[in-house]
Amino acid sequence: MKKIDLGVLSGDVLVFGGVYSNLHALDALIDKAASMNILPENIICTGDVVAYCAYAQDSVERIRDFGCHVLAGNCENQLAVDAEDCGCGFELDSTCSLLSKTWYAHAKSQITESSRIWMSNLPDRIIFSHNNLRFGVVHGGASDVSKFIWPVDSDKTILNEIDLLETEINSIDCVLAGHTGIPMIRDINDKKWVNSGAIGLPANNGEIDTNFIIISEKSIINMKLEYDVNSAFQAMQATSLIQGYHSTLRTGYWPSEEILPKEMWV
Ligand SMILES: [Fe+2]
Repeated sequence: MKKIDLGVLSGDVLVFGGVYSNLHALDALIDKAASMNILPENIICTGDVVAYCAYAQDSVERIRDFGCHVLAGNCENQLAVDAEDCGCGFELDSTCSLLSKTWYAHAKSQITESSRIWMSNLPDRIIFSHNNLRFGVVHGGASDVSKFIWPVDSDKTILNEIDLLETEINSIDCVLAGHTGIPMIRDINDKKWVNSGAIGLPANNGEIDTNFIIISEKSIINMKLEYDVNSAFQAMQATSLIQGYHSTLRTGYWPSEEILPKEMWV
C-alpha cells in the first residue's frame, strides 16, 4: 500500500478520474484547468487513466507530461503486472466482462514498458488538507480498489469504508473516490463521500458532457466537461472498438446497466 501526503493545498483543487483512454477528453480537461488558472500540483486524478477508448498509451503520456497527481486505478494495477483482465469487478460472463476483453486487450497492446513501470509506482492513497479539512483519495473504496460505492448505497456501507480508510490514514473529513463513473456528493454525519465521476465516458444519464469536481474554499461542486466527442468516437471506430462504448460517447448511455444497482437503471 503506497500512500502520498501532499500536505496543505491552497486555492481551488480540481479532481477528476476515469480518463478511460479518451485523449480528447483529457486534452479538454487540461485546457479547462488552464482556463481556471489551476496548476497541476492542485489537480488529482483518481485513476483509470486507461480503459474503454482508443488512446491508451497517448493518454498515459499526456497525463505524465501534464504532471498532475495520479492515483492507481484497478486498470493501472492490472496493466502494471501484465494481468489478463481489467480487474473491474465485473461478474464472470456479464456483458461488462465480455466487453472488457476487447478494450483491455487493445489497451494492453498499446501500453509500453515505461508506462507499466509508471503505473506500478502510482500511489494507492493520496492525502491532503484544504481549508482546514482533511481529504483521503481512494480509487473504488478502502476495502478494495474495485469496490463500487453508488449514490444509492446505505450510510452504513459508506461509513464502513470511511472507518476502514481512517484506520490507514487517520481521521479525515472527506473521501474522494472514482471507479464508478457516476458523480456523487454525499454527506453522512460530519463526513463526506465524493465521487468526481469520469471524464472519459458519460454518466449513463443521456448527457454527453462528462464530469469532474472543483473543491473551493466555499464548496465542492460537480462540473461538466465538454470535449470533441466526434473525434473520440471516430478514433474508437478506426481501432475497431465498436462493441458499444463508442456509442456511449454519443448517446450518454452505457451499453449495459448490469453493473448498476437496479434503482439506478434508466
Ligand atoms: Fe476502476
